[in-house]
Amino acid sequence: MSAVTLDSVFRLRSTLPLPNLMNIPVHSRDLIYTDWTLIEPQFDPERLRARETVFTIGNGYLGTRGSFEEGYPQALPATLMRGVYDAVPVIYTELANCPDWLSLVVIVNGERFRLDRGDILHYERQLDLRHGLLKRSVRWRSPTGKTLDLQFERFASLADRPVLGLRCQITPIDFNGTIEVQSSLNGYPENQGFDHWEQLDQGKLEQGIWLQLRTRHSHIELGMATKIAVIGTNASFQAANPPGYPTLTATFAVTKGQTISVEKVVTIFTSQEVELPVQAAQNKLADLPAYAVLLEAHQQAWDTVWQHSDVEIEGDRTAQLAVRYNLFQLFISASSHHDRVSVSAKTLSGLGYRGHIFWDTEIFILPFFTLTQPAIARNLLTYRYHTLEGARRKAAHSGYQGAMFPWESAATGDEVTPKTSIPTDPYAEAVRIWVRDREMHLNADIAYAVWHYWQATGDDNWLRDYGAEIILDTALFWMSRLEWHAEQERYELCGVIGADEYHEQVNNNAFTNRMVQWHLEKAVAVYEWLQHTFPVGEASQNENHAATLAQKLQLTSEHRLSWQAMIAKLYIPYDAETGLIEQFEGFFQLKDIDLNDYEPRKQSIQAVLGIDETNQRQVLKQPDVLMLLYLMRDTQSVTDHPDALQKNWDYYAPRTDITYGSSLTPAIHAILAANLGATADAYQQFMQAAMVDLEDSRGNTEDGIHAASAGGVWQAVVFGFGGIQLKDDGPVATPHLPPTWTRLKFKLHWRGTWHSFDLTPPSAQAPDSHKPNIQGFIFDLDGVLTNTAEFHYRAWQQLADEENLPFDRQANEALRGVARQASLLLIVGDRSYSEAQLQEMMERKNRYYVESIQTITPQDLLPGAVALLDELRQTGMKIAIGSASKNAKTVIEKLGIADRIDVITDGDSVEKPKPAPDLFLYAATQLGLDPAHCVVVEDATVGIEAAIAAGMWAIGLGSMDHVGAAHIVLQNLMGVHWADLQTKLDRLNDGRGIGSAIH
Ligand code: BGC
Ligand code: BGC
Repeated sequence: MSAVTLDSVFRLRSTLPLPNLMNIPVHSRDLIYTDWTLIEPQFDPERLRARETVFTIGNGYLGTRGSFEEGYPQALPATLMRGVYDAVPVIYTELANCPDWLSLVVIVNGERFRLDRGDILHYERQLDLRHGLLKRSVRWRSPTGKTLDLQFERFASLADRPVLGLRCQITPIDFNGTIEVQSSLNGYPENQGFDHWEQLDQGKLEQGIWLQLRTRHSHIELGMATKIAVIGTNASFQAANPPGYPTLTATFAVTKGQTISVEKVVTIFTSQEVELPVQAAQNKLADLPAYAVLLEAHQQAWDTVWQHSDVEIEGDRTAQLAVRYNLFQLFISASSHHDRVSVSAKTLSGLGYRGHIFWDTEIFILPFFTLTQPAIARNLLTYRYHTLEGARRKAAHSGYQGAMFPWESAATGDEVTPKTSIPTDPYAEAVRIWVRDREMHLNADIAYAVWHYWQATGDDNWLRDYGAEIILDTALFWMSRLEWHAEQERYELCGVIGADEYHEQVNNNAFTNRMVQWHLEKAVAVYEWLQHTFPVGEASQNENHAATLAQKLQLTSEHRLSWQAMIAKLYIPYDAETGLIEQFEGFFQLKDIDLNDYEPRKQSIQAVLGIDETNQRQVLKQPDVLMLLYLMRDTQSVTDHPDALQKNWDYYAPRTDITYGSSLTPAIHAILAANLGATADAYQQFMQAAMVDLEDSRGNTEDGIHAASAGGVWQAVVFGFGGIQLKDDGPVATPHLPPTWTRLKFKLHWRGTWHSFDLTPPSAQAPDSHKPNIQGFIFDLDGVLTNTAEFHYRAWQQLADEENLPFDRQANEALRGVARQASLLLIVGDRSYSEAQLQEMMERKNRYYVESIQTITPQDLLPGAVALLDELRQTGMKIAIGSASKNAKTVIEKLGIADRIDVITDGDSVEKPKPAPDLFLYAATQLGLDPAHCVVVEDATVGIEAAIAAGMWAIGLGSMDHVGAAHIVLQNLMGVHWADLQTKLDRLNDGRGIGSAIH
C-alpha cells in the first residue's frame, strides 16, 4: 500500500485551493505578546490564511476570520454561524460559509486601497483579547504616490449577538482629494468553490441595504442588513443593488491631515432563532444606537467574561498571552444562548473538519466551561440530548440497542464522518475511514462529561431532565455491544479503534473498556439516584422520573442487573506485576519503534510508514492508556499499582507521535508530566499546545483553531501546573509551577461557589531576596555559540586587501563585538573616503560575509553550546540572541538551533549598538522578562558593558583582559551547567548584590 494516509489525504482534500499546503510548518516567532494584546507587527502574505484564523473574532453566535476588509488575492474570508449546516457530497454536511459582512473598499482619487499594490509604509494588527476587538493600522502609499493612514477596528458584539461593528478611520497624509468608501454585503461566500446559498431577495432601506438568502438543502433562511455613518465631514450617500451584492457608497472630500471615520454596523438573523430573519435584521438595524454605544456595551460584556474565566500568569508573558488567547478562542466558539449547537473541532474559525463536532468538545473543551461558565457547559451537553434521536438511528442501523453517538456530529446526531477520503491523485485508491464504524469511546466520553458537569454544578434538575437519559440510553448501547466470551468468562469489546487512531481494528482497548465499565457504573448510580431523589408519591406533583425514563428507553431491571455483571467481568488487559496496562490485546507483541530513528521529520509517523505498517507498530498517534489514567485520576482506575502512572508514562510517552501525530497530545502530556513532577518537560509540552496556532507549528492553522488543544491548555494550567483535584468539599491545589512563573491565578466554580486560586512557587512564598531569580538567557552569537568571527575576519581581510588597507588578525581583535560601520571606520583609519564609498564598502564586506555563512552547519557550533541551550530550555528558561550582526537569523538557522531560541534580536532591532544597553533591553522586552532576571553571555568588552548597563547579570567568555568586568568569567561553554552557574550567581549575590564578581 502506498504511503497515502488518512491525515495526509484529509489535509489535501480539505485545503485544495493552495498548492503548497503540505509544506513543513513554519516557526514564526514574529508575533508580539503583551499581557492582553496579540500584535502582528508586519504583513506577511505568505502567512495570510493562517493569520486569518489567528485573528478570528466572534461571539458564540458567529465567528469571522481575520480577513481584510478590502480583500486580498488568495484570502479565505469566512463567517461561520453556529448551527448553519447544509448538505454537501461525501462529507454529508458542513457549516455553510455565510455572507461576508466585512467588505469595505476605500478609493482615493480613483485609486483603490489594497495591500498588494503601492507601498505599505507601516502595518500593525492587534487583537485585544480583553475587549474582543481587532484593530489594524496601515500607512499606505498609493501607486501614484498618495499617502494615507487607515485605522480599522471590528467586533462581533458580545452584548447583543446579532450585531457587528466595523470602523475605518482615514487620514490623508500628503494630499487633498476625494475619497469614496464602498460598503457591501457579499452574498457569494463559498466553501472551497461550493456555494450553499440561494439568493432570495435584497433591497434598500431609508438608511441602508439588506440581503435575504437561504441554504440550498437545509433551507435555513438568513437575513442581513447594514448601514454606514461618516463622522468628521459631510458625505453624499448612494445605494446600489447589484445581484447578491448590495452596496452603500459614501463620497466625501478630504484635506491633508484631516481624519474621517466611517462606521459600518450590521445585523444578522437566521430562521433558527426568528421566523422572519430579514424583518428582524431590518428592525434591529433601525433601532441600533451609535457605534460608540455598541462598542461600550460589547467591552463591558467581555469584562464580565474575564472576571470568571481569566487565568493570570506572572513571570512569563508569552504563556500569559497564549493562555488568554486560547481561552478567548474557546469562549467565542460556544453559544451561551442556544442549546442545539456545540463547538466544532476547528471552532467557527475555519473550514477544517467542516464544522463537525468530535469528542474534542466533551473531553478537552468542556472542563473549562463546566468550571468557569457552567451555563455554556450545560448548553453544549444539552446539544447531545437533542441529538439523541440521531444517535439512536446510528445504533439501530448497526444492529444495536440504545444510542450510539456519531464519531463526527452536526445538526441531527446522525453519523457524518465521511466513509472514505478521496485522494486528489486520480490514480490513488480512496482510503476507507474506519473511525465512523469503530471509534466508539465517544459514548462513554459524553457520559463522563455529563457526570462531571453534574458533580461540579449540582444541577439536579438538568441531570433529571436531560443528563440521565443520555447516560442511560448510551449504556444500553454498550450492553448490546459487549460480547460474552464463555471460555474466558469475561465480557469483551472487539473490533474497535481506541483514542489512538493509528491502530484501526483492535480488541479490548484498555481505554475504551475501562471507560465503558465506568460508564455502566455511573448508569447504575444515576438510575438509583433518580429513584431515590424523586420517589413516587412523596409529594403529589412528583412524577416517577425513573420509571418514566425506563419506560421510554425500554430499560428493564434485567438490563440493570446485566450492567452489574458487565462491570464485574469486563476484560481490561493489564499486567499486575509490572503495572503496565496494555493498550489493547496484543499491543506488546507488535514491532517496537524508536521514534528517534525517524528524526528529523516534518510529518506524522503514519505518513512516513504508511497506514498498514503503522498499524503493526507500537507507536501511538495520541495518548490512549495515558488518556485513561488522566481521565480516571480521581477514581480507582485499572490498577492499584503505586507507580502505575510513572510506569505507563515511561512506556507510552516515548512511543507517542507528539510532534506530528495529534494536536490533542501535548496538553495531556503536559498535565501528566506536571503531576509526575517533571515540570520542565511539562512546560515544554504545554507551550507546544499553547502556541500551536500562534506559531502555526503544525502547518494547518489556516484550517481553523485547534479547539481541543485550546481546551487542553486550560486543563494543563489548572490540573497540571495548578495540580487541582476536585474533592467533595471543593477543589484543592498542589501547584507545580514552571520555574519562571512567579504567580498563577484563576477561579473555579464548584457547587455554587467561586473558589479563587492565587498560587506562587515556594521560593516566592518565603522570599530570599538575595538569590537572583534568573528567568532568561541572552546569548551573543559570534564567539559565544559559534565562531563567525572567523568569517567576519575573512570578509574584512578580503575587503582590506582589495582596498590596500593595512589589516591582519591582530587588528581584527579590536573589532570583536563592534558593529559593521564602526568596524569599517577602524579599518579605514585616517584614509579619506566619501560617504557613498564607505557605504559601498560595507555592502561589499557584507556580501562576502553572507556568501561565506551559507556554508555554516551545526558542526560550527562551539563546544558545549547545544548542551547548555538544551539544559536551559529544559528548566523552562527563555532564550534570546542579542547580536550586533545583521545576519544573526541566517546563522541561527544554518546552525540548526532555531527551535531552541525564543527571540532573535540583531543589528536591525535597535539603533544604538553595544555598549549601549538597548539591544539587551529590547531582547528582555521581547522575552517578556525584567532585565534583573536575565543573564547575558558575551565574549566582547562592549557586550559586557552593555549587559551591565542594562542591569543584567553578565557571563564573560574569554580572557580577563576582555571580559573581566563580567560577574562570572569562563573560558568557553564546554561542560557548563545551569546548576553551577546558579550556585555561582547565588553565592556572588550573598548580601553583595549585582556589583560583585567571580572569576
Ligand atoms: C481523523 C478522524 C476523522 C477523519 C475524517 C481523520 O484525519 O483522524 O478523527 O474522523 O479524519 O474527518
Ligand atoms: C484525532 C481525534 C480528534 C480529531 C478532531 C484527529 O486527528 O485523532 O482524536 O477527535 O482529530 O480533532
